[in-house]
Amino acid sequence: MTKLGIIFGGQSGEHEISLMSATSVIHAADKSKYQIVAVGITKEGKWLLYDGPVDMIETGEWEDYAKLKLLSDPEAYDLTVLGSTRSLKDLVDVVFPVLHGPMGEDGTVQGLLELLGVPYVGCGVLGSSLAMDKIASKKIFERERLPVCKYVAFTRDEVSDDLTKCCEKTEAAFPYPVFVKPANMGSSVGVSKAEDRQALKEAIREAAVYDRRIVIEESINCREVETGIIGNAVPLAAAVGEIIPSKEFYDYEAKYGDGGKSQILVPAPITSEQAKEIKDIAIRAYKALDCRGCSRVDFFLEKNTGKIYLNEINTLPGFTRFSMFPTLWKQAGLEYAELIDRLVGYAMEK
Ligand SMILES: Nc1ncnc2c1ncn2[C@@H]1O[C@H](COP(=O)(O)OP(=O)(O)O)[C@@H](O)[C@H]1O
Ligand SMILES: [Mg+2]
Repeated sequence: MTKLGIIFGGQSGEHEISLMSATSVIHAADKSKYQIVAVGITKEGKWLLYDGPVDMIETGEWEDYAKLKLLSDPEAYDLTVLGSTRSLKDLVDVVFPVLHGPMGEDGTVQGLLELLGVPYVGCGVLGSSLAMDKIASKKIFERERLPVCKYVAFTRDEVSDDLTKCCEKTEAAFPYPVFVKPANMGSSVGVSKAEDRQALKEAIREAAVYDRRIVIEESINCREVETGIIGNAVPLAAAVGEIIPSKEFYDYEAKYGDGGKSQILVPAPITSEQAKEIKDIAIRAYKALDCRGCSRVDFFLEKNTGKIYLNEINTLPGFTRFSMFPTLWKQAGLEYAELIDRLVGYAMEK
């Protein structure tokens, strides 16, 4: 029996998504193989051992339960991860950090697990942090001659010193509309589309709330397609799927806010040549960022030209039963529970 640690919650804006992903993973993991050890991270960053009902995770009630348990038995339920006798290391054989966004998907938790010597699902420190950073990853993609859209990048200091100059540089690089994003976020938080100078200024100020570094991209009139990659030294690509956003672009609201009106199409209605090219680029991108374990690689497919642009890599993609990543793998012949087995296997391989 493998003691499989499932870490859920976390301090990012994607806390709630993580609760949903983790619930699916816990329900589906083969109980004849795994003994589940659930560990929740509150939004404040407290790690708590959780042994209550699985269905209280998604509703958020797990937190009250875990805190009550902690009151009654501080020794048993607190999870001081480092420098304590009650270390995560003693409780689990391998961990699946089902966490999305900063402080979970970005190499921080991965670094902690490295220090503890606990094997974990997904990318290591370098791959996780590179993929989370839209500027660093683009620079590497360009270097590898992978197709990325035009972009400019600014620091928060540059923005506060001379916002007009930032706008002028952007306007010199490509025409409106443009997409403005914090370099390190996820779930479209802080992302906006600007049609003119005034909107650009507001969008930059908004993005600067979330990060010290801001990236601005040309807007691609596109369909959005994605593929799933798994593996370590020899990565494998799943099917290619398409996102049909319920709004003009795939913002936070379209992703999670509207009761799932955004749809996914698996496989994407594209030619087999396009699918092949997308998978090839995805694998090259995965290797370029030193990814391992798993990732979802997202693309823009330009409507008028059919040109493929690499958008980003998500190293811990949404993992509910209905999420794109598991659906892509199901299409490729790997059922949800088997996918978990494979990911745990890759984690232990290291
Ligand atoms: N350059 C772009 N051209 C067209 N649409 C874009 C562009 N950048 C982002 N978008 C839209 O915004 C969404 C979120 O941007 P993305 O870079 O994927 O950020 P996140 O990491 O938050 O998912 C995309 O899914 C897409 O709908
Ligand atoms: Mg995205």
